[in-house]
Amino acid sequence: MMLRRMLAAQQLSHVFPLGSRINERGRVEVGGCDTMELAREFGTPCFVVAPDDIRARARAFREAFAAQTDDFEVIFASKAFPCTAVYRLLWEEGIGCDVAGPGELAMALAAGVDPARIHVHGNAKTRAELAAAIDAGVGDVIVDNHRDLDLLEQLVPAGRRQPVFLRIAPGVSPETHPAISTGGPNTKFGFDLAHAPAAIERARASRAVELRGLHFHIGSQILDLAPFRTALEALTALGDFREYNLGGGLGVAYGEHDRPPSIEDYVAAKLDAVAEIVGPGRRVLDEPGRALVANACVTLYEVQSVKRNVDTYVAVDGGMSDNLRPMLYGARYEAQVADRIGGGTRCHLVGKHCESGDILVRDADLADPHPGDVLVVPVTGAYGHAMANTYNGALRPPVVFASGGDARLVVRRETCDDLLVRDA
Ligand SMILES: Cc1ncc(COP(=O)(O)O)c(C=O)c1O
Repeated sequence: MMLRRMLAAQQLSHVFPLGSRINERGRVEVGGCDTMELAREFGTPCFVVAPDDIRARARAFREAFAAQTDDFEVIFASKAFPCTAVYRLLWEEGIGCDVAGPGELAMALAAGVDPARIHVHGNAKTRAELAAAIDAGVGDVIVDNHRDLDLLEQLVPAGRRQPVFLRIAPGVSPETHPAISTGGPNTKFGFDLAHAPAAIERARASRAVELRGLHFHIGSQILDLAPFRTALEALTALGDFREYNLGGGLGVAYGEHDRPPSIEDYVAAKLDAVAEIVGPGRRVLDEPGRALVANACVTLYEVQSVKRNVDTYVAVDGGMSDNLRPMLYGARYEAQVADRIGGGTRCHLVGKHCESGDILVRDADLADPHPGDVLVVPVTGAYGHAMANTYNGALRPPVVFASGGDARLVVRRETCDDLLVRDA
């Protein structure tokens, strides 16, 4: 077992944020910061982000596009990690965002994102949300349904035309969890191919909108790139447009054996498809979310109890209140004891919430876990903070940026007063 631990200690799995390592004290280090020190300083659970990792991926996306075209826009699908500091960081890298709710728009504006680089999504946009978006001067609205067009026609001031894309469901279902497959033949998102022509005709005739092009987003955590081409082929039946927003979807590695396509291969597959299927001279927009932020973040927990029933249960001070993905999609994560990398104890890493399904990692392999240990769970940057909730009165974790050995709080931990403040 000693040898196994030593071997494991040589290197952290590639799913950890870029630049992570095991330091001289044998502890996981992220952004040059010792995770045990971070746990002591900021408490647990805690989201620790390596902003340098996000920057590197942002640059990789932009450079991959720039290598083939100068008419493109990379847009952060901000639902993955809606946090003012993340919007600001990506904006510094030249990446605007999409928003799908009022808080996302507010945070993007607070972060200083140019409204012209904000793109508005939603399959049930309210009048108030569209009014706020128009008022802010957003770049475009991705029209999902006829009600969006009704509202835009009522809200866009006379003499102005709001740029829009039409979201099309191309009838393509990539291999991913059904809950995050969004472009199949029968979906709640966008216009299906049968109904799209009438929507296109209506948008073209409208005095309130300017139809820029078509949009599709076929799903998330996609590991096979072929369906993007199939989706684009389906769109050609709807005519020829100058602009195409191809959504996001690039999958990431959650476990050490996962090898998703590279950012370069993903971008090349999409741009090649546009050039070959639609033709040259097109503006291409892309909306990566997960692939920009997932691997940049780890969650720190403290072990509260270790119990042997039939199986061994290691319970931590968070759970489905800070990471819903295992419960929603059966998502798999790795975990490590911060100062004992490796394995040896087969166990279920469970949360503190009042549901048997509150299991963060089933069949985890941890090195002799004990109460008081700090655990590190990588790849929690996408949809961890975003889906955090207050189940059982949990206080949502802080977000800490760690870079070059310095740690900076960018979102503080929620307090009980925060939970009481909305009481009317
Ligand atoms: C419209 C839209 N675009 C882009 C994305 C980003 O997808 P991903 O995080 O897989 O890149 C999503 C995610 O749900 C989405 O709904």
